[in-house]
Amino acid sequence: MLTLNRQLRLQSRPKGLIAPGDLQLREAPLPELKDGQALARVKYLSIDPTMRVWMAGDSYLPAVAIGEVMRAFGFAEIVESRHPDYKKGDRVTGLTGLQDYVVVDASAKQSFQKVPKIPFVSDTVFLGILGINGLTAYFGMEIAQPKKDETLVVSAAAGATGSIVGQIGKIRGCRVVGIAGTDEKCNWLTKDLGFDAAINYKHADWKAKLAAAVPNGMDIDFENVGGEIMNTVLGLMNLHGRVILCGLISGYTKEDPSLASFGTVLVKRLRVEGFIILDYAASSSSKSDWTRLKQQTAEPACRKATLERCVFSRRRASGETLRTLVFVPE
Ligand SMILES: NC(=O)c1ccc[n+]([C@@H]2O[C@H](COP(=O)([O-])OP(=O)(O)OC[C@H]3O[C@@H](n4cnc5c(N)ncnc54)[C@H](OP(=O)(O)O)[C@@H]3O)[C@@H](O)[C@H]2O)c1
Repeated sequence: MLTLNRQLRLQSRPKGLIAPGDLQLREAPLPELKDGQALARVKYLSIDPTMRVWMAGDSYLPAVAIGEVMRAFGFAEIVESRHPDYKKGDRVTGLTGLQDYVVVDASAKQSFQKVPKIPFVSDTVFLGILGINGLTAYFGMEIAQPKKDETLVVSAAAGATGSIVGQIGKIRGCRVVGIAGTDEKCNWLTKDLGFDAAINYKHADWKAKLAAAVPNGMDIDFENVGGEIMNTVLGLMNLHGRVILCGLISGYTKEDPSLASFGTVLVKRLRVEGFIILDYAASSSSKSDWTRLKQQTAEPACRKATLERCVFSRRRASGETLRTLVFVPE
């Protein structure tokens, strides 16, 4: 075991893109555990767009204070415990912060969730499809209530969240169009994930291509980007369409993100609903859900796409297909 805890602390609030010096590497001694505490070794960290929001100021969570360990989701394993609910070897996900070790205690318990070992599911999946991104896609699509033959458009489509949103859309019988920033990502969306079309927004003619890809207009915009992409998408929406406002990543490094689209919201009588996955945490963390997930993954018969049991496949370069299940809370 290491004797020092390497930590990345917030040194200054970034202006624009994060720059060298905004985070500073510090080494702190490992804490002495008290009764009711456990020490977890952080094995994997998730670097999420929302971290830039947490650096900037108060939002749906308080800003990370200057000098504080940078907030981040991670996967960790308990290495020592004086906590009745945790034993050595238990695995947890939660807000570990950008550091080697994190103390789990009663006050931190709410932000950690024990995760099981599941055959053929790698640990990092708990920071993706079986973690925040899977839940965000799932609950966002619950808000969207997609119907068969509707057209769903998702931006940042090849990202951790967007790629799952599109797959849920296909399971629900939608025409799914993704927007992404490289031809390679677009090919992955259509060839591997089964999207009906994918548009590279870095090509000069992307707006015309997007319009051509939605001959019946758009019913649902799963919005991850904002800015010019959102403006263009809203202009192609059908009357009374639904906009699921999940993220506005194009504005996270700007002082004044654009709200230019709001005239279109009015004219097209759109229903816009923002959501934050933390509001759904209680629905997603019960022990029975994980037990059910474990049982489901052990049952080969469950490996088919139904609304209750969503199967997602990601083909690796080797040709091997990794299948994972997203549990569906009651
Ligand atoms: N509401 C919630 O609770 C919640 C939870 C999780 C995530 N989110 C939001 O969902 C969105 C996606 O998150 P994620 O975790 O899936 O992200 P991710 O996997 O890190 O992917 C982000 C992708 O966004 C695209 N992007 C970045 N800047 C862009 C810009 N200026 N214009 C267009 N595209 C841009 C890039 O892909 P390209 O190469 O395709 O440009 C990038 O790879 C973010 O806005 C995030 O804040 C919200």
